[in-house]
Amino acid sequence: MRFYRDYCREHFREHFGEHASMARPPILELGCGTGRITTPLLKAGHTVVGIDLSQSMLIRCTERLRWAGRRVQGSSLLIRGDMRSLPLGGPFGLILCPFNAFMHLYRHADVAACLGEVRRLLEPDQGRFLFDVQNPDLRWLLRDPKKRWARTRFKHPVTGKTMVYSTNHIYDAKRQLTHIKLYYDCPEDPSAASTVSLAHRQFFPQELRLLLQTNGFTIESEFGYFDGRPFESDSETQLLVCRPT
Ligand SMILES: C[S@@+](CC[C@H](N)C(=O)[O-])C[C@H]1O[C@@H](n2cnc3c(N)ncnc32)[C@H](O)[C@@H]1O
Repeated sequence: MRFYRDYCREHFREHFGEHASMARPPILELGCGTGRITTPLLKAGHTVVGIDLSQSMLIRCTERLRWAGRRVQGSSLLIRGDMRSLPLGGPFGLILCPFNAFMHLYRHADVAACLGEVRRLLEPDQGRFLFDVQNPDLRWLLRDPKKRWARTRFKHPVTGKTMVYSTNHIYDAKRQLTHIKLYYDCPEDPSAASTVSLAHRQFFPQELRLLLQTNGFTIESEFGYFDGRPFESDSETQLLVCRPT
């Protein structure tokens, strides 16, 4: 099964490996999760500080780094922390916030706090901030929340049982929040089913650019896909490379 996120991950590595190579070490990754990006960056020889709010994500990240070997582990530091108030000093040559982690900043105050921290920690001249958020798609946002979408069968990597993935969401247009549910059903064993709930803030393109400008950032380049294609009206992603103004 090839999820969209796997596709993004591959291209993210390719495309932003370049930025990582040019940046003065170390790299700071906000919302590192289970280390899908952290690990390839470390394997490529970078020193990475990973921050995440979730202890369980960090435990899985630690496990993944242990598997990757001692050298990889030795050039990493994982910290439990909030990207709105970071428990560390800089400077960092590159700060990343990959795969929609920025969409967990639900209010303008959260965005301002996070961007303030990024500014505080970035190298003043050479430092760059790279992040991506979805490009809001009105047809997708207004999908029928009573239906299940994107049904996909796959084998559970540990139990080998056939699972069925599906998703739906409710869009709160006032707060620009999508309340998403990811369903993992197991037809042969209903007790193995699980549901994950999460909320994403939707950032409309002009709003996002104004937020960056008013919080002291200049956009250096922007892309609409992880393979480096330009940002257009119907792009899937808004991937921005910014520097402090
Ligand atoms: C969509 S996941 C992306 C994880 C990782 N970057 C990846 O590509 O696999 C978002 C991550 O951001 C973390 N997160 C959410 N809000 C956060 C906050 N305020 N500070 C730090 N991490 C946060 C979540 O715990 C989650 O691991």
